[in-house]
Amino acid sequence: MEQIAQDSRLLAATSALAAVGVAAVSFKVFSFLKTLLELYVLKGVSLKKFGAGNGSWAVITGASDGIGKEFAQQLAKNKFNVLLVSRTASKLETIAKEIGDQYGVETKTYAMDFTKGDNADFARLGDLMSNIRVGVLVNNVGTNHDIPTPFTEESDKVIEDIIEVNVMGALKMTKLVLPQMQTNRSGLILNLGSFAGMVPSPYLSVYSGSKAFLSTWTQSLAKEVENQGIIVQNVNTYFVVSSMSKIRRPSFLIPLPKPYVASVLSKIGLACGSNVPFTSTSYPSQGLANWFMNLLSPNFWITQNFNIQKDVRRRALRKRERLAAEAASGSKTA
Ligand SMILES: NC(=O)c1ccc[n+]([C@@H]2O[C@H](COP(=O)([O-])OP(=O)(O)OC[C@H]3O[C@@H](n4cnc5c(N)ncnc54)[C@H](OP(=O)(O)O)[C@@H]3O)[C@@H](O)[C@H]2O)c1
Repeated sequence: MEQIAQDSRLLAATSALAAVGVAAVSFKVFSFLKTLLELYVLKGVSLKKFGAGNGSWAVITGASDGIGKEFAQQLAKNKFNVLLVSRTASKLETIAKEIGDQYGVETKTYAMDFTKGDNADFARLGDLMSNIRVGVLVNNVGTNHDIPTPFTEESDKVIEDIIEVNVMGALKMTKLVLPQMQTNRSGLILNLGSFAGMVPSPYLSVYSGSKAFLSTWTQSLAKEVENQGIIVQNVNTYFVVSSMSKIRRPSFLIPLPKPYVASVLSKIGLACGSNVPFTSTSYPSQGLANWFMNLLSPNFWITQNFNIQKDVRRRALRKRERLAAEAASGSKTA
């Protein structure tokens, strides 16, 4: 009798464990199929919802190069007027003219240095936006450590610049445009995040922390305004060819800005491989990489990342030494 009771308890425990196992595997299979569907089949929220083609404006920070310039071009192609913001007035004017000529939209430019964190700059930009209807804000401007650097060796200036540009810049820009989006009950705010905000990056700790801030803040704000017709989304980006990444050639995982931005704009509101709320990893190979990364422990990725950054630092220091030696021998022969 006792034996039968023990056997039935064992059977119940084994069945419960098997059910948990099946549920866990089914959940992973479902989440993988959902990721494939979102990356390759489904379309995101249409840009028309945010005023494309009806006189609305898109405001893009860091719009004179790389990913930001591409956002400006593709949003203009989708018939948004564009307000371009970055440091260098001459670059902004050239791009604004090209965009105006090519897409027949209105353009405005505003040159400011986000590292200064000057409230008067933001106030003037606010005035410029007070009589236009802003449908889209792309908080794209960002800055990084020059090379991977141990925290205590990093200069105060680099640390302050990263926080001023990546964190305060996004907060202040959003504070300028969100009230009118709330009045209009329509708006899209894209915050350029990074895998470095998802996987802590030793030796790039301040950049990594700034992007983690953006991720958490985006999620909180997105929830606050989701019932007001406004989408706030963290754009979870792995590498893209640009001057910031210092990568010149595209590869399977590393696109040029053009296909990268096209993927972002066509997948608004879809997670595409990310398991973080209000976050999208829209470029197909990066979305798949994100999904697979979530299978392994964060500890594993931090260690991998640290090894990579140590190696990048070693090579960057060797390059600096070589350039310094070349410069020294050049100045001797001159
Ligand atoms: N590229 C990547 O692999 C990658 C990966 C993950 C995340 N991201 C994020 O994507 C965003 C764009 O990166 P990107 O690679 O396209 O950069 P990028 O090619 O270096 O372009 C940066 C843009 O920002 C402007 N800018 C830089 N510092 C500024 C400042 N202090 N004040 C005002 N404007 C400034 C630059 O123009 P001026 O020099 O004329 O001002 C330029 O228009 C960043 O937020 C970055 O963190 C990039």
